[in-house]
Amino acid sequence: MEKSRLTLAETPRAVLFDAYGTLFDVYSVGLAAEQLFPGQGQALGVLWRDKQIEYTRLVTTSNGGAHYQPFWDLTRAGLRYACKRLALDLTPEREQQLMNQYRHLSAFPENKEVLQALKARGIITGILSNGDPAMLAVAVKSAGLDGLLDHVISTDSIRTYKTAPEAYALGEQATGLAARQIGFVSCNSWDALAATWFGYRTLWVNRYQLPFEELGTQPTHTGNSLRDVLTLLMP
Ligand code: LAC
Repeated sequence: MEKSRLTLAETPRAVLFDAYGTLFDVYSVGLAAEQLFPGQGQALGVLWRDKQIEYTRLVTTSNGGAHYQPFWDLTRAGLRYACKRLALDLTPEREQQLMNQYRHLSAFPENKEVLQALKARGIITGILSNGDPAMLAVAVKSAGLDGLLDHVISTDSIRTYKTAPEAYALGEQATGLAARQIGFVSCNSWDALAATWFGYRTLWVNRYQLPFEELGTQPTHTGNSLRDVLTLLMP
C-alpha cells in the first residue's frame, strides 16, 4: 500500500542511519551490567541511555554550547549518574568494564545485508550520529561495516548534538543532496521526529513496540526492522 505513494523521483538517493540504538544495540550492555549488578542490569541500561541523551540536550541548549563534551564523556557521565541513582557501587574497574562494553556494542544482525543491498542499488550510505569519531570508527569496524558506508558523519565536528538542525544539516553537506532526497533511519523516536521536522524522508524502526512521540508529527514511514529500509523507504 505504502509503496504506491512513492514515485521513482521521490526515492531517496542517499540513506543515512543513526548509530546508537539503530545500527548498534545500546541495550546489549545490559548483559554485562547484569553480571556486575545482578537484578539491576536492565534498569541500569535504560537509565544510562536516558541520561546520556539528556546530557546531549543539556550541553547543546545551554550557554551557546559552552559546556560541550564529546559523546564518549557524556556516556561515562551518564553511567556514573545512573549508578548513583540506583545505589550501585561503580568501582573504577567496573566503570572501565562497562565503558569497554559500550565501545564494542553488538550490531543488529540485519545491518550488513541492508547496507549491501543499498550499495548494490547505487544508493549513497552513511551514518549521522552524535557519537564521536573515535567511538564510531571502532563500532563500524567491529561490526564489519567498513566498506559499506560512504560517510560516517559525527556531529562532534560542530560540537552540537542532534536534535539541533545544524546537526541534521551535516547530512546534506556531506552528500551534496537536499534533505528531501535523503532517507534518514532511526530507532530512536525523538531522532526520527526531529529528522522529519528537518525535512528528511524518515523511517522510524520501532524495535521495541513503543508509541511514537505525541508532538503532532509522524515519521514518513514506520517499520520494525532495518530491512524495512528496502521495502518502505526504497521500494
Ligand atoms: C546517535 C545516538 C544518539 O546519534 O543514537 O547515534
